[in-house]
Amino acid sequence: MDVFETRLLLRRTTCMTGAEAASVFYDPARFQRAGAAPAPLQKTLFGKGGVQGLDGEHHRQRKAMFLQINHPDRVEALAEVVSREWGEAVADWTTADQIDLYAQVQVLLTRAVCEWAGVPLSEAEAETRARQLAALFDEAGAIGLGHLRSRAARKATERWAADLIEQIRSGQLEVSDSSAASVIANHQEPDGQPMTPRVAAVELLNVLRPTVATSVYITFVAHALDTHPVWRERLARGDGNEDLAFVEEVRRHYPFFPAVAAIVREDFQWRDHRFPRGRRVLLDLYGTNRDGRYWDDPERFNPDRFLGEEPDRFAFVPQGGGDPAVHHRCPGEPISTRLMGVALEHLARHMTYTPVVPAALSAIDYGRLPALPDRGFRIRNISSRPA
Ligand code: HEM
Repeated sequence: MDVFETRLLLRRTTCMTGAEAASVFYDPARFQRAGAAPAPLQKTLFGKGGVQGLDGEHHRQRKAMFLQINHPDRVEALAEVVSREWGEAVADWTTADQIDLYAQVQVLLTRAVCEWAGVPLSEAEAETRARQLAALFDEAGAIGLGHLRSRAARKATERWAADLIEQIRSGQLEVSDSSAASVIANHQEPDGQPMTPRVAAVELLNVLRPTVATSVYITFVAHALDTHPVWRERLARGDGNEDLAFVEEVRRHYPFFPAVAAIVREDFQWRDHRFPRGRRVLLDLYGTNRDGRYWDDPERFNPDRFLGEEPDRFAFVPQGGGDPAVHHRCPGEPISTRLMGVALEHLARHMTYTPVVPAALSAIDYGRLPALPDRGFRIRNISSRPA
């Protein structure tokens, strides 16, 4: 079934799944994003005034800013810093009894993305900022204490980022022109004015937070390597040519961001289903990535499926569908895939380790948001292996 109705967060909601449904969902004439994000997520994951809730020309212009920040040369520059941080982290881990890969990768990614983005970060501050950035996505969907921690992290990180933007604008802090912090501080809105410091802070966090969130996918890369020893061997002996196929299959197969939301602009009909104006609609990303009408044997983890042609941009939607310049598709895919590739290179070719709980005994906990192996992913007996 492509479309069904339910009630979610006290609102009647229509859910859609599959590549055809995705192409309808991303039609800006039919859907808008203003008002689509659930309020609890605005107070944690997204913040207010960011690109996610914009439509039309305002959205396209703000989105161009992200595509400039994530220019291919800049992605390579980030990958270099991240790879250096991996080397240093692995050297530290060799003396530890065991480490929690998810938490440790968050710290190394925080150090790297801050350096690359032009955000000063003292060594003493790195763990606290990593924890705050992680709380924005790891506890965003939580209730009770977790939700409060996420809201507190949103307030603290917005204050920190807004302060930086003001320091850059006043000339107190000098950063390179191509860095994310500089591009955001100097971006002009359609009315020729800069963004308010608060909105600029939300956008700077829209770069820092999801880069640190790549730790979720990196944990899945480690889980997949352990679950599929034949692939681990193949990649360990390989020249890197098949790394991307493995990374893409991890993004297709493992759950991360389950769905995206939009609001119907004007009444319309699709597949005998009525979409009334104002209705909230969810596109099921996870189900679309495993839709048997497009994917052969979709439940099987099989990186070979990515060794041929590129998949359809509405069928492979782990970070949204369509064209990132025009639609709300994530502008960070080149970053997340590249940083997963760097992680894969280190995990498969530059280090050896033993998982504390083998992946076969550690199922993915789908009740958690983001989903993760239910017993975490701790590793021990860590040694670095020279290139
Ligand atoms: C960790 C891996 C990531 C996942 C799972 C992810 C997932 C997503 C998803 C599902 C969307 C929504 C698409 C839609 O609304 O149609 C999105 C949008 C976005 N992502 Fe990512 N993302 C990731 C990494 C990144 C990175 C590394 C960056 C930036 C450096 C980034 C920046 C953004 C921004 C700014 C948007 C809003 C785009 C818009 O509304 O036009 N993301 N992402």
